[in-house]
Amino acid sequence: MVAPASGGAAGIDWTTWLRRWDEQQTGYLPDREVRFAVMFDVLEVLLPAEFVALDLCAGPGSLSQRLLARLPNAQCIAADKDPVLLAMGQGAIGDVGARLRWVDADLLAEDWVANLGLTHVDAVLSTTALHWLSPDQLVRVYCQLGQLVRPGGVLMNGDHMRFAPHLGHFRKVADEVKAARRADAFERRGVEDWEGWWAALAREPAAAELLAERERRFSGRARDWINPSYDFQVGALREAGFAEVDTIWQNVDNRVLLAVRAA
Ligand SMILES: C[S@@+](CC[C@H](N)C(=O)[O-])C[C@H]1O[C@@H](n2cnc3c(N)ncnc32)[C@H](O)[C@@H]1O
Repeated sequence: MVAPASGGAAGIDWTTWLRRWDEQQTGYLPDREVRFAVMFDVLEVLLPAEFVALDLCAGPGSLSQRLLARLPNAQCIAADKDPVLLAMGQGAIGDVGARLRWVDADLLAEDWVANLGLTHVDAVLSTTALHWLSPDQLVRVYCQLGQLVRPGGVLMNGDHMRFAPHLGHFRKVADEVKAARRADAFERRGVEDWEGWWAALAREPAAAELLAERERRFSGRARDWINPSYDFQVGALREAGFAEVDTIWQNVDNRVLLAVRAA
């Protein structure tokens, strides 16, 4: 495992920053908690009580924290490449009695799977993250996950997934509903948004070193969502060797895509 560095950020109240992170993310996704809960419902039905899950692009570990609280015999690996969010997760959540391991991993690096330190997991879960990948990158990551998830194991991706290009009315509904929900959260109710959250953290002097490292790691990356469509994702998961692939939960274009590897 590659342990994330603390970056000289001692003294930061990471618990408060994690609470603000969750509020900010919930501003974008009013049913974020329901989406997490559905993913855990799936794990409860399809996996034995003891299992190992990978929280892919975990950020500060919101999913891992909830999963480990709800499923007491599970273990989690939280992997991300953002040094700020890794430090926050470690500071706020810790290792949950040695049940949670943090890994510094860049999905675009060749060796990220090898660096996890295990050959198989029972489940891979990811939320609000894989939209950063281009179609080519997503296909490669899904193929890697097709090998990493053990036979009978599951992968779930919770994210906005664009409707196919010919579904113009569906796309219009998704765009307008998303815009209305964001206006309600950020303009009417004054919830802190993504930019505001990062700007506020930048005013913490003790976070300067971590933020500089983050800047180095993410520089040159396009900030726009790429957001491969739902149909593309289903096809890519089938190609990657998952036998059953479909939506298990949906609110407009926000879905949990479930993929099960043949036993
Ligand atoms: C919007 S955040 C979501 C975090 C968390 N899953 C959640 O739901 O709160 C997206 C995450 O994807 C991570 N990410 C983006 N590109 C990545 C990459 N190439 N490798 C690893 N993590 C990446 C970011 O660092 C960030 O933590």
